[in-house]
Amino acid sequence: MTIKAPRGTNDILPPASFKWNYIEKHAHEICRRYNYQEIRTPIFEHTELFARGIGEATDIVQKEMYTFTDKSDRSITLRPEGTAPVARAFLEHKLYGKALPKKFFYFGPMFRYERPQAGRYRQFHQFGVEVIGSDAPDVDVEIITLGIDFIEEFGFEDYYVEINSIGCPECRPSYLEELKTYLAGKEELCENCQERLKTNPLRVLDCKSPVCQEIVSEAPVITDYLCPDCQENFSQVKQGLEKLKLDFKEVPTLVRGLDYYTNTVFEVKSDELGAQDAIFSGGRYNGLLEEIGDRDIPATGFALGLERLEILLEEAAREFGDDLQVYITTIGEEAEAESLDILHRLRQAGYSADRDYGGRSVGSQMKDADRKNSRYCLIIGSEELKAGEVNLRDMKSGEEESVPLDGILEQMSKVFEPEP
Ligand code: HAM
Repeated sequence: MTIKAPRGTNDILPPASFKWNYIEKHAHEICRRYNYQEIRTPIFEHTELFARGIGEATDIVQKEMYTFTDKSDRSITLRPEGTAPVARAFLEHKLYGKALPKKFFYFGPMFRYERPQAGRYRQFHQFGVEVIGSDAPDVDVEIITLGIDFIEEFGFEDYYVEINSIGCPECRPSYLEELKTYLAGKEELCENCQERLKTNPLRVLDCKSPVCQEIVSEAPVITDYLCPDCQENFSQVKQGLEKLKLDFKEVPTLVRGLDYYTNTVFEVKSDELGAQDAIFSGGRYNGLLEEIGDRDIPATGFALGLERLEILLEEAAREFGDDLQVYITTIGEEAEAESLDILHRLRQAGYSADRDYGGRSVGSQMKDADRKNSRYCLIIGSEELKAGEVNLRDMKSGEEESVPLDGILEQMSKVFEPEP
């Protein structure tokens, strides 16, 4: 039996991989403009980082982590997300001693044992940004804008922004009390929510069950319980977004699946994505660094699901790839032997160049050149070789010209001359 990839994982084959490269290139470019710098953290961490950082009672920690014991009996977990690792690296390398805030971005695979469906996988990839060391509402505005600018770069405009504030450890407990009192005795709540009511009542607010949603629609609203500081903070975030003419909707039931959030949380969604509709999501997490490293340092960030963005980019993947510049077609053994050196010289000079390796007919080689989207074809025949020449065919116009064997590179630099 052939071995298949594990359920919930994907192979990214060419030409889809061109699209991934293209997306990553744009992410780098947007981060350059916003002055965010790349950080790379390990794919696995000590389990405790996520248990404490994301929260023991969350679905991620309870049900979805890929956790194993290594050969030295340590509990290790494949990272389910990138925020806790970035915060860990920030603390470990004492970056708080440097000018703050630090603005990071990252890419990489994340792992969650979820039920796979369109847009939801067990290995998926995130592009994330984290700003550590500032509690300015303008930073929350900046990251939301960065994410929006990024998706708009692809001409994608069918999205909407939802925001909420979930307060701070000062004001949230009194809200939770109210919420618990309201939900107590509501036996129609689904089984999951009955459990959440005990462990994580805030999560009842975003249950997808219609019955729970009906109950929640009458529940007390968190923004009515914010302390003056949290109220001020939230209104400044909203004012900043308004100033930048960024449409958003306040959704008082928006809460997140990770426990580290404080104040502003947000999700940017698209109806084109079906049930898994969040393209990117995040928020402020002022308590996380204290939780994992005893340092009271505010932070904010988001992560974007690259598979979901890829679904939204409808254009043919082929468009995102670089075309082959030169394909070498040979006629006869002598020409084939000569092509080895010519191909090598072309590549060393910086051109993307390829050939056929199978000794096939000229017709098949030309077809192959076409399939590879080759811009030019260098045709080497034995007669021409004797005369010290080769033919260069423009694959768009079909025009052919003769080029001296020792003048190939010069001719290439002319035809691929950058546009003025
Ligand atoms: P999250 O909402 O769990 O937040 O994930 C962020 C994004 O990753 C989602 O909006 C979605 O696009 C994508 N995503 C999540 N799970 C999957 C999955 N199973 N398959 C495919 N895509 C998925 C976080 O991870 C936080 N660390 C975000 C953050 C950064 N908050 C502050 N800084």
